[in-house]
This record gives sequence, C-alpha cells and structure tokens, in this order.
Amino acid sequence: MKVISGLLFFILISCSLFLVQGQVDCVTNSSDASCTNFQYPLANITADINNLCGSMPYMPVCTIQQSCNQESSTSGICDPFSILGDSCLHDMPGMSGCNNFKKLCASGSVVEQCSTVDSVTDLPTTMKMWANIKSICNEMTMTGCEKCTILNATCDVLTVYSTLCLAMPEMGQCANWTQMCASSGNMASSPISSGICTDEPTPATDCFTNPSDPSCADYVYTAANANADILNLCKSMPYMTVCSIQKSCNQESSTSGICAPFSILGDSCLHDMPGMNGCSNFKKLCASGSVVEQCSSVDSISNLPTTMQLFAGIKSICTEMAMDGCEKCSGNSPTTTCDVLPVYSSLCMAMPDMSQCANWTKMCSSSGQLYNSQITSDYCVASVADAVPIMRMYFHTGILDYILFKSWVPRTDRQFAGSWFAIFFFAIFFELEKTLRSILEKRWTPNKKDSEDNNLINSSFLSGSYPKFSYRDIIRGCLHAIELTCSYALMLVAMTFNVALFFAVIAGVLVGNILFGRYRNYTPRVTCCE
Ligand SMILES: *[C@@H]1O[C@H](CO)[C@@H](O)[C@H](O)[C@H]1NC(C)=O
Ligand SMILES: *[C@@H]1O[C@H](CO)[C@@H](O)[C@H](O)[C@H]1NC(C)=O
Ligand SMILES: *[C@@H]1O[C@H](CO)[C@@H](O)[C@H](O)[C@H]1NC(C)=O
Ligand SMILES: *[C@@H]1O[C@H](CO)[C@@H](O)[C@H](O)[C@H]1NC(C)=O
Ligand SMILES: *[C@@H]1O[C@H](CO)[C@@H](O)[C@H](O)[C@H]1NC(C)=O
Ligand SMILES: *[C@@H]1O[C@H](CO)[C@@H](O)[C@H](O)[C@H]1NC(C)=O
Repeated sequence: MKVISGLLFFILISCSLFLVQGQVDCVTNSSDASCTNFQYPLANITADINNLCGSMPYMPVCTIQQSCNQESSTSGICDPFSILGDSCLHDMPGMSGCNNFKKLCASGSVVEQCSTVDSVTDLPTTMKMWANIKSICNEMTMTGCEKCTILNATCDVLTVYSTLCLAMPEMGQCANWTQMCASSGNMASSPISSGICTDEPTPATDCFTNPSDPSCADYVYTAANANADILNLCKSMPYMTVCSIQKSCNQESSTSGICAPFSILGDSCLHDMPGMNGCSNFKKLCASGSVVEQCSSVDSISNLPTTMQLFAGIKSICTEMAMDGCEKCSGNSPTTTCDVLPVYSSLCMAMPDMSQCANWTKMCSSSGQLYNSQITSDYCVASVADAVPIMRMYFHTGILDYILFKSWVPRTDRQFAGSWFAIFFFAIFFELEKTLRSILEKRWTPNKKDSEDNNLINSSFLSGSYPKFSYRDIIRGCLHAIELTCSYALMLVAMTFNVALFFAVIAGVLVGNILFGRYRNYTPRVTCCE
C-alpha cells in the first residue's frame, strides 16, 4: 500500500513539475529546453500576419498569404509560420508583427518550428521590388505600372513586379524575379507560382520544343493563336507598332500579306520586342533550325523602325516644332495615348523632308510592302481628306494650301480650279473698283467756281482754300477701305507662295487693267457751266 501511495505521490510530483515546466513562456525564453516542441499557435500567427498587412498591405507576405488561401494550401511555403517568416526573416523584421517571431526564433532558440520555416528562397524585399517596378515603369509604360504610382495598398508589389517580369522576362530589373522563380527555388514548384512565375501553362506541342523535326514543316500556328499572342503583347504595351498595324488591318478587314496575323506577330517578335512573353511561342516555333514553313513565309514589314526608335523620332520632331499629334506623346516614355507608328507617320506625312523622317521614307519606299499594302493610307500616303496643309515660305506647286481661311483648303483639282478662278475674278474686281474710284475722283474735282464754297485758311503754310465736308467724303472713304481690303487679301493669297495662286492674282490684275485701266483717264463732260 505504501509502495503504491509512494508511487502515486511520485507521479503527482512529476506531473506537477512537468506542468510547471510547460508554463515556461517559450516566446520570451525560447532557449528553455522544454520549448523544443513548442508550436506557436495558428491564431497568433494569423494575428501577426494581419498586424503586418494592416500597416503595409502591399508587402509580399500579404500576397503570398492570399494566394495560399485561394489555393487552400497550408504546407511548404504556404505553411502559415513559413509565410510569417517571409516577412520576419528577410523583409521587414523591424515591424511589430514580427516581435514574437523574432523572440521565438532568436539565436539560441531551441524551438524546432523555427528550423522548419520554409520561406520563399530569394524573395526580393518589398523595397527592392518597388525599386525595380519604378525603374521598369520609368523606362516604359506597361500594364501594371498604373497601380504603382505611389507605394500604397493598390500597389501589390509582388503581383505587379511579377506581371511586369512575366511580360518582359529579359529586362535587367527582372534579375531578382528570375532568381526567385529559378527552378532550384521553392516558388516555381509551389501551388501559388501561377501569376507569379508563370502566367498560363502553355500546351506542350512538339513543334515548339523541337521545331527542326521534319514533321513540323507543315505545322501551322493558327490565326487564333497568333491573335491571342498579339493581344497578350498589346495588353502590356498598347502603344507598340504591332498593335497599330493590327488595328489598321482589322479596319481594312485584311488578313493576307503583311496583315496575316502570323506576319503581324513577326513585326514585333522578329525586330521590335522579341523579349516579350507574347513572343515566346513565335520564337520557339521559328528558332534557328526550324523547318516550319510558316516561319519562312512571314511577311513582316521590312525597315519597320522599332517602337523605341519611333518614339525617339517623335520626340525629336516635336522638340523642333510643335505639330498636330505631338500632344499625344508629351511624356518621356510612350503611354497608351501615344500610338507611336500612326503618330510618327502622320508627322512625317506632313513634313516628309525632316531628317527624323529618314526611317519613314525607308519604310514607305514605293517598292516596300507597307506602301503597296491596303493599310498604306494610314502610314505612307495621306488620304486627301485628312492631309493638313503646311506653311511653306518659298514658291511651291501643288494644290494643298490654306487660302485665307482655315476651311478654304482645295483638296481636289476641281476645287483648286474653282479657287483659282475665284481669285482671278476677285483681282479683276479689284481693278474695276480702282477704276471706279478714280472716275469718281475726276468727277469730283472742284470747278473753279466752287471755290467760293471752300474754307479759306489764312496762315503761313496752310494758306489756301480747302473743300468743305460733303457726302462724297464718306463714299470716298468707303471706296478706299474696300480697295485696301481687296489689295491686302490679294497680297495674302500671293503669300501662300503657291505658284498657281500667285499667278491667279497677277493674271486677274493684268486682265482687269486691260479691261478697265483706260477709263481712269476719262475727262468729265462739263455741262453745267456754259
Ligand atoms: C529561461 O530559461 C533558461 C534555461 O532554461 C533559464 O536559465 C532562465 O532562467 C529562464 N529565464 C526566464 C526569464 O524564464
Ligand atoms: C496568442 O494570443 C493570445 C491572445 O492574444 C494570447 O493570450 C497568447 O498569450 C498568445 N500566445 C503566445 C504563445 O504568444
Ligand atoms: C536583386 O538583384 C540585385 C542586382 O540587381 C542584387 O544585388 C540583389 O542581391 C538581388 N536581391 C535579391 C534578394 O535577390
Ligand atoms: C493608391 O494611390 C493611388 C494614386 O495616388 C490612388 O489612385 C489609389 O486610390 C490609392 N489606393 C488606395 C487603396 O489608397
Ligand atoms: C533610323 O533607324 C536606325 C536603325 O534602323 C536608327 O539607328 C536611327 O537612329 C534611325 N534614324 C532616325 C533619324 O530616327
Ligand atoms: C484772310 O485774309 C483775307 C485778306 O488777306 C481777309 O480778307 C480775310 O478776312 C482773312 N480771313 C480770315 C478767316 O482771317
């Protein structure tokens, strides 16, 4: 009996000892040996993450937690304690949400949970990603940039940075992303990698992995696929040349020649932006050694300048002179309003002789595909209805000029002939009016007898007789004003420097003078004073 009660007592003692030991606060004293198996409660982990994300909702830890919730995954990098580690080990250890984690896993900690933390390898810090986003978005405007004008809740750095790098994986600023998504890391193989490291699983087709296989000669990348790739490209950079070309081709309902979707895709993937994600299929299919016949028949526009060259050309032209269209591309990098190809083309159509338009001249050479395509009117030959007259301060031929008014712009030969005759007859009218005035002046020349009516002025040098005011003075003034208006108008027409219009003025004056000039020497018949 004594033995049994002694045993019970011993058990009781050890139990109470154990309880006492279990009450050691492992958070504040993590080096206590009894804390080896301590598990930081899930509720506290969640509370800590919420604390972190409450103050900085743009941190990667918040994105990771959300994605893991969506995937209902709680293992590997989605283990809540590992998620907390993403922030507290590398990113923002100084935040109050990390206080418990830091104490629990301080150096000397025996808590085993700390050594099992599986945080994302090579996860860039919030600030590093933010810096990379800024750098990419300063270089070029891409979809996603608009969320990150400032670092606030809208700018979820991990998502935005990944979106940008998925579109342009080869940019220098994406080195950190490449490292994070390397196959050796734990992000690429995790359930949350889609949207961060991959956008959509591409169907594995033999001809993409092995385009030199002879059986791939007849492989055809469908128009739907090519259009999807173009859409993908234009989603991130809507101002690219390829997007404008596709728009023009759609308007003309053309899908052949340079308007074939695969050829349009080639415009971007061969010369302009081959590094973009939308080009990955094109590049694989048409890699060197490819036997895919579609690749050798790509009819991309030769001498098409790149998007960045076009933008540089626009900037250069617009710095030299303000022209219609410049306002669309006012920023330091292209934006959604600045469709570089149409803007550059319209500037060069207006001023084809500018040195910045050398590349346009090359692209639109009369033997090139663009010039001979259905979309030429958008880029090479201004349709008459859209062309804008330009001021040329030297004699020139042609019909496109502003004549006195903004709306008086002859656009067809007929309209020009009409304008020519209008000016011609106006010049004749001018001569007629001048003759009329001189006839009236002669008639009004005062007779000697009239001088009685005149005002006499006695003074040193004004002495003489002056006519009195009469209704004739009003008529004379009006006629003079009309004459001056006509002559200025004719002068302004001559100043269009349009040779034909200049000679319309001269011819009108000439004919008018021949017809009416002699009447200026008329002598009034004197009947009044016999
Ligand atoms: C923490 O644990 C160590 C070792 O078990 C012990 O020496 C120390 O007194 C404890 N400190 C506190 C504050 O519990
Ligand atoms: C977890 O949170 C609860 C509620 O705030 C708190 O009472 C408890 O002490 C926390 N546990 C640890 C281990 O910090
Ligand atoms: C990110 O890239 C820079 C170089 O661009 C490198 O110095 C840095 O260590 C990288 N950071 C991480 C977390 O990979
Ligand atoms: C973040 O900043 C942008 C730009 O200032 C603003 O449009 C957006 O509403 C802000 N988002 C939040 C959640 O405050
Ligand atoms: C024309 O394009 C070439 C490359 O094709 C480029 O180096 C050059 O700067 C461009 N010229 C002008 C005037 O934009
Ligand atoms: C002007 O001079 C003449 C003679 O010299 C004189 O008769 C007349 O009154 C003068 N008229 C005026 C307005 O002074």
